[in-house]
Formats: sequence, structure tokens, C-alpha cells
Amino acid sequence: MKITVKTPATSANLGPGFDSLGLALDIWATVTVDTDKPARVNSITRLIQQGIEAAFGDAGKAPPVAIDWDNTIPVARGLGASASLRIAGLLAGNALLDGLHDVDGLLALGTQLEGFPDNASPTLFGGLQVNVRRTDGSIIHLDAPLPDDLKVVVFIPDFEMPTQESRRRLPRQFSREDTVFNVGRVALLVAALGAGRYDLLDEATQDRMHQPVRGQIFPGLNPIMAAAKEAGAAASYLSGGGSTVAAFVQTGEERVARLMTQAALANGFSGRSIITQPTRQGAHIVES
Ligand code: HSE
Repeated sequence: MKITVKTPATSANLGPGFDSLGLALDIWATVTVDTDKPARVNSITRLIQQGIEAAFGDAGKAPPVAIDWDNTIPVARGLGASASLRIAGLLAGNALLDGLHDVDGLLALGTQLEGFPDNASPTLFGGLQVNVRRTDGSIIHLDAPLPDDLKVVVFIPDFEMPTQESRRRLPRQFSREDTVFNVGRVALLVAALGAGRYDLLDEATQDRMHQPVRGQIFPGLNPIMAAAKEAGAAASYLSGGGSTVAAFVQTGEERVARLMTQAALANGFSGRSIITQPTRQGAHIVES
């Protein structure tokens, strides 16, 4: 049996919404699993296989499958590649199980594999997802409104930034001042996006939880964010755990993309800019 799944890339955190906010982008991975061909294992197919095994609930019960992936979402760059691949595996595994799990069950499994919900949720559901982990471990996810004309420019450095490594360096405790700083801004961000208030997005995407430390690991971050805003972006932030820098843009996206690339190169970071937009569609099976 052959199953093809499409899953979108995602941009998590959006500045202050650490481990809570995630946005699906119109950049898609296409994954095909084939139960009739021999499996070949590498670091990418392992992520997809993890999703299949999680759907089966027992690695021993999951069938070996050949996996094909079109390599469209760069890995370890803060665009949720691991979540896209694991969710693709979960959807394929669930199809092999005739839909044993409902979508919330798939989100719970995806979050367990990832360790946080803010990539798994938007790649599964699309759109801007607000995610909260209940004290019993289950996940609340809610679709939040976005302006129709929102464009997202992403500068994707060639430099990799493995999420788990940079997470280990983040502080475990925050002052009341920094907590209030982020709480207010994440609330403002959701409200401002819903109201189409581009003028508030710069303030609303400021962060004191993870970007300061990650900016030390990736010294290109602040100059690239500054270049995006100078070029006319409404806001910019580190996408997920990096190294991608994302900018919210209403108009003038080509100029933003160009200036972000130039600033990156001027600071010693090669890479490429992509102009994209949010997608309301989430992961889906295209062929089975
Ligand atoms: N919230 C996660 C982090 C997202 O910042 O580590 C990783 O893409």
C-alpha cells in the first residue's frame, strides 16, 4: 500500500509565544510511504518512521515501509521540519490503521514526539494555532484569526541550529518583569493579528524568553531582524529555535527579502530568502 501525505512548514514562537504559538506556512513537504518496498533508514526517514510507530503505539507492530521525501523543508532551521515529518508519519500510520486516532489524539502523539506543541499543532491543523498544555498533559489548540494580506518573508541561513541544543541553554527561571513583558506581548500579538493592526506587531513580537540567548548563538539574528524592519516589515522574529529569521509584511515583500539576505551576507551568514504566506490548510493525505 502506498500513501502520500502533504504537511506544511511551520514557524513557532512568533517572538514572545515560546512553546505556545505556531503558524503554518505555504511551504509543503510531500512524503510517500510504501509498505510494499524495502525500508532504508536515514535521519529523515527515522522521523517519519517515529510517527508511524507512534500511531501504532508499539514500534514492533508498525510495518517497515519505504519512505520518499521531497526535501522541501530544510532541517534544523526553525521551520518545523521534524514536526512536519513526524506528523506525516502519524497520518500515514493512522491511514494504515483505518483512522484509529482522531485529530486530537494525533496532536497528543505529535506533541509527545516533539516535546512541545507549537510546530506539531499548526502543521496538523494549518493557520495560526494557540496551544496550551493542560496540567494532565493534554493539549488545547485554538485557531486564531490572521489578516488576509499577511505575507511572511523567511530568511533561511545555511547555518543549522539544532533546537534541542539551544533549548538546553535557555534560562529555567525568569524575573517577574520579564514574565510580564512576554505575557502582555503574546496577548497583544494574538489580538493585533486578529484586528489587522500591523502598527502594533513590532512591539507585540518582542521577546525576553528565548531570543536573547539564541541571538548569542546566532549573531546574525539581530542585524537581519533590523534589516527586515528597515526595509518595511511590520515585525521580525526568530522562527522557532532558529536559524530562520521571519518577518511579517503587508506590502514591499521583495525589498524585505532582498535586504534580509544582504544583511545576513554582510554579517557572514549565507542563505536564501523566501516570500511566503500563512496557509489555513494543514496536513492531509493526497493519495492512498
Ligand atoms: N518552541 C520551540 C522552541 C519551537 O523554541 O524550542 C522549536 O521549533
